[in-house]
Amino acid sequence: MANTKKPGPFTTAAHAGYDPLSHHGSVNPPVYHTSTVLFPTVEMLHRGETKPFEGMRYGRIGTPTSQAFEDAVTALEGGHAAVVASSGLGACCAALMAFLKAGDHVLLTDSVYGPTRTFADKVMRGYGVEAEFFDPEIGAGIKALFRPNTKVVFLESPGSWSFEVQDVPAIAELAKARGITVMIDNSWATPVYFKPLDHGVDLSILAATKYIVGHSDAMLGVTTTPDRKTYEKLKTGHVLMGQAAGSEELFLGLRGLRTLPLRLERHGRNGLELADWLKGRPEVARVLHPALPGDKGHALWKRDFTGTSGLFGVLLKPYSHAAVTAMCEGMTLFKMGWSWGGYESLIIPGFHLPTRTASKWEPGIQLRIHAGLEDIDDLKDDLIEGFKRLAAAS
Ligand SMILES: Cc1ncc(COP(=O)(O)O)c(C=O)c1O
Repeated sequence: MANTKKPGPFTTAAHAGYDPLSHHGSVNPPVYHTSTVLFPTVEMLHRGETKPFEGMRYGRIGTPTSQAFEDAVTALEGGHAAVVASSGLGACCAALMAFLKAGDHVLLTDSVYGPTRTFADKVMRGYGVEAEFFDPEIGAGIKALFRPNTKVVFLESPGSWSFEVQDVPAIAELAKARGITVMIDNSWATPVYFKPLDHGVDLSILAATKYIVGHSDAMLGVTTTPDRKTYEKLKTGHVLMGQAAGSEELFLGLRGLRTLPLRLERHGRNGLELADWLKGRPEVARVLHPALPGDKGHALWKRDFTGTSGLFGVLLKPYSHAAVTAMCEGMTLFKMGWSWGGYESLIIPGFHLPTRTASKWEPGIQLRIHAGLEDIDDLKDDLIEGFKRLAAAS
């Protein structure tokens, strides 16, 4: 009898999108640098008009390199097929554009990534789509916000600044009953730790720039769909909008994906240990980390996620901007930068509260920390020195 057990994430990451014997035994697939695709017959030249989702016909629409990456991500997500984009934001915006039209209403979590929020609220509004934001902790209460013209619910869990966990299965079930498409930005957990499609979500979007690439050296986005119909709608949108990913970026994405579960284990462990330690520091008012027992999102995280990545928040007790600046600017290992998910640790101070229209945000200065792959004691020492600067400048 065939073994029907699904392989684990380490095995999937190592083997998906992988067929060495189809390219001379070379372990990794060759990188196709392609714009023009040539055809031997007129019939084949025009085949894309009747069979738009089959074969290679134009570099922008897909190459064996994009296919290998999409296949690998699809296997990790447990989906039907994936579509790549030029960046994570590109993937979020393309998904919204592909599934919304003038007159539609879209519900987005108030904790959504800032530029996704601005795109929905400003750009999509300009095209006649009404964007409404909801409390990330709304759960089944979202039902009250559904309108006859609600076409999309956009989730992000946990939020990448505020770290609230959403009740994804409850929201997805209610949306599905109304024929509403549910999308999620799954960049924080990646499919290694959360599989949105298993929880009723229709589009799982990843800023592959973050943990999948994993080395802070490429921009890439990818969205996975659970069935043919959703895939064709998304792919058509991407093709018409000219969304594509560069061949080197795809190579770096596929290369990063092979070690994703391994890296995430350490990002998660380092992050959780730092979060737990920071919780006991006198300078800290609250740590925002759903994997930390006592965090308000912990129960949902424990129910739905199988692990944690390394990004979390720290609310400081009242300190001046100057003191927090002295702390952050003097760090040795923690660097300041926005795009997280690489091997290096990051720290950034949030001096302005994120835009919120449907939920409250605690006032005060927040640090956002990305735990990299360094030795934990070195990271703690760096933070201890930072806290000394914080105290000295206060
Ligand atoms: C949660 C989240 N989604 C999407 C993005 C956008 O990804 P990219 O930088 O690849 O456009 C980011 C970037 O920081 C992010 O944090």
